[in-house]
Amino acid sequence: MLTARELKDRYAAGENIGELLRKVRGETRNTPEIIELSYDLQTGSYILAMQDPAMREHKRLYATEIARVILSLCDPRSVLEAGCGEATTPSGVLAAMGRDIQAFGFDISWSRVAWAVRWLAAEQVEQATLCTGSLLQIPFADDSIDVVYTSHSIEPNGGNEASILLELFRVTRRFLVLLEPGYELSGPEARQRMDHHGYCRNLKGVAESLGDSVLAHEPFPHIANPLNPTAIAIIAKSQSAGSRQSSFVLACPKTKSPLDDLGGALFSAEALTVYPGIGGIACLRAENGILASKYLDMFA
Ligand SMILES: C[S@@+](CC[C@H](N)C(=O)[O-])C[C@H]1O[C@@H](n2cnc3c(N)ncnc32)[C@H](O)[C@@H]1O
Repeated sequence: MLTARELKDRYAAGENIGELLRKVRGETRNTPEIIELSYDLQTGSYILAMQDPAMREHKRLYATEIARVILSLCDPRSVLEAGCGEATTPSGVLAAMGRDIQAFGFDISWSRVAWAVRWLAAEQVEQATLCTGSLLQIPFADDSIDVVYTSHSIEPNGGNEASILLELFRVTRRFLVLLEPGYELSGPEARQRMDHHGYCRNLKGVAESLGDSVLAHEPFPHIANPLNPTAIAIIAKSQSAGSRQSSFVLACPKTKSPLDDLGGALFSAEALTVYPGIGGIACLRAENGILASKYLDMFA
């Protein structure tokens, strides 16, 4: 059994932690535990990469194009990046949108969210609310966000495409925009690499099989790694969903019901569960919750 500290040392020595854990655990795909460990240990690497002028320019072009696509679809009051990592994508998207929008982000890794908060403060992006959360149980209410987008976060979740798309679609009010590996649009070498890393596939086909309306699916113009080319998929929610608007945004990941901010934690009156805040970050993965049926009585 490898401890997290041992894995941290092996990451520092240059090992690919996802690959190592899949081998040790006998998995061909990435479990949420493997994803959390491998990304949490990488924390800081995306912010560091922004010191490279070429990478910074690539990210600026990438984020500006995302913003352009979103604004071509609608004039959103709220956007969410699901699997926001260190927020080096949303900082550019929000800057390029240049308007007052309620912005949200979540990630499975606490450390990455903590670094994202720092990065956004350094980039003077003030309107964002970040928390931890899972793509498989998103801690946001139904129809709560005008535009939900992902940027290579479904990527390591091969095998869970349908469950994740259902969750993303549930939270979306108007449009869901996916920037993910374009398996079906790639050549054999890139496909082989994606298969090896347990990446997602066939997002367009899965979305259509769920009855979603896919408006576009095509190569994205700005690509960091030719062996992992980004494709963009745009999915529209029905007009009737667009006319609904949730009265709350953050939600219990188990019941999708509202959360009350009490005693430095978020309480779900439906799940009778408290979700802690650690370092100022709401921890909204289902497994972070503590059953506390008497929590409200402490404040009576
Ligand atoms: C390749 S990084 C991309 C980060 C960011 N979206 C960007 O564009 O820089 C993938 C991110 O998705 C997160 N992620 C992957 N699977 C997830 C899941 N099931 N639930 C929540 N976050 C997840 C990882 O922790 C990681 O931060």
